[in-house]
Amino acid sequence: MKHWLEQSIFYEIYPQSFHDSNGDGIGDIAGIIAKLDYICDLGCNALWLNPCYLSPFGDAGYDVADYCLVAPRYGTNEDLVHLFEEAHARDMHVILDLVPGHTSIEHPWFQESCKDTKNEYSGRYIWTDSIWTDAAQFDGITGSLRGLYPRDGSVAVNFFSNQPALNYGFANPTEAWQSSVDSEEALATRQAMKEIMAFWLSKGCDGFRVDMAASLVKNDSESIETIRLWQDIRKFLDESYPQSVLISEWGEPNKSLMAGFHMDFLLHFGPSHYMDLFRCENPYFCKEGKGNAYEFVKTYRENYELTNGKGLICIPSGNHDMERIRQYLDEEELKLVFAFLLTMPGAPFIYYGDEIGMRHLDLPSVEGGYNRTGARTPMQWNNEKNYGFSTADTEKLYTPQDLSEDAPTVSAKMRDENSLWKEIQKLCRLRKGFSALSAFGTVRFVYCEPESYPLVYLRTDGTEKILIALNPSEKEVECICPYQPKEVIYTLGEPFKMSDGKLFMSGQSAGMIQVDE
Ligand code: NOJ
Repeated sequence: MKHWLEQSIFYEIYPQSFHDSNGDGIGDIAGIIAKLDYICDLGCNALWLNPCYLSPFGDAGYDVADYCLVAPRYGTNEDLVHLFEEAHARDMHVILDLVPGHTSIEHPWFQESCKDTKNEYSGRYIWTDSIWTDAAQFDGITGSLRGLYPRDGSVAVNFFSNQPALNYGFANPTEAWQSSVDSEEALATRQAMKEIMAFWLSKGCDGFRVDMAASLVKNDSESIETIRLWQDIRKFLDESYPQSVLISEWGEPNKSLMAGFHMDFLLHFGPSHYMDLFRCENPYFCKEGKGNAYEFVKTYRENYELTNGKGLICIPSGNHDMERIRQYLDEEELKLVFAFLLTMPGAPFIYYGDEIGMRHLDLPSVEGGYNRTGARTPMQWNNEKNYGFSTADTEKLYTPQDLSEDAPTVSAKMRDENSLWKEIQKLCRLRKGFSALSAFGTVRFVYCEPESYPLVYLRTDGTEKILIALNPSEKEVECICPYQPKEVIYTLGEPFKMSDGKLFMSGQSAGMIQVDE
């Protein structure tokens, strides 16, 4: 049986900001259900939901207070199960966000672990054995909390100070208070995480995007023990929930795919050169044509060769942690971006609102968003009040919205035959129509030189061969291209020409053509 990831195109939903069904100014699960047909219409058939669990929302829900309870502002567990059912009825899949590295300080495990009497949760977090020993002084630990709780010790944090690190042990314990990875307490944390996964998988969830997947085992600079830990979790999933998927926020596919993840994201951090393409002074996809995709492709190729067959590499359009891609590129440039994202291997991820070119806004921080807040604004559906996101008073909205005169809306973009939205819809259909373009089809780069255009690559599933040529620059370009053209399946801008082993492209154009070698 084919794996469902093969034909998946994901849509990332930041639940706070997608669609508010009860008029409180914050998005909710019923609002997502109401928009499933819209997502299908665009061409996406899988969802990633940012954390929707009980939380004090010090980090937008990445500070979990109960992994098995939907936050009341989003609805109930029954609503989430209903979302799984409604999605499945449309042949869609839903993955949740798993935050295994840390909890909120309000999580009952943490509350127990702070007590000065030993209990079941004393070893659930990384505590030193004395308040005078600061956990933050040790390798692999980025911060600590000290002097706030009755327990005599300091406790490691994993991200913000309100996110104490769960204890999966140390790769090389050097102090008596550091657990080994196979200690009783470290294994109990791992087991608890498996139970949380099973809880949602048994209710119909299809897998997880895993937050800070590389962060679990401490003092593990080569990630050797972290990789072992995830291999063990993958084994558990393969035995109990074989169709479920694990997608990592790691950014190093050479490690994460070894660890058993089905797919890893290339991101704004890590060695991937992802930012060179879309978010830097001269992005490759900017029409000025001063960009460089060479380092990105070089790193991609190395990873691809190392990992091919073990799992997938995903290049997302953006996410809730990055500036909106629209901050750097206009709608015409974004068409070329999506022609790239929707023809590369791995399952594409479209961040909500990127399909209409929503802008990054300059806003004060909301829920620990800081500079990320501008990428988390409520969806702009139509020209009704609050762009159809919510009937609440405008000041009650999760964040302010784009008030510019030309703020894009879904309804306007869906009406406009030349919009980015329509181009993405066309590209999604194309991807589904050719198995060479699916997640597991292979890629070979045909032309990618330093500081040069176009970018040309060949996708194949073994029988079908599709050549993809992208020229984001406004200049006319040419390159060698030793293929026999067959049928053209996609053109954006002026059609390209192939003759005498060469490819000729006009400015800001893209093409896809079936070829013979
Ligand atoms: C990565 C998440 O994407 C981000 O939003 C969050 O703040 C940190 N991990 C901490 O969980």
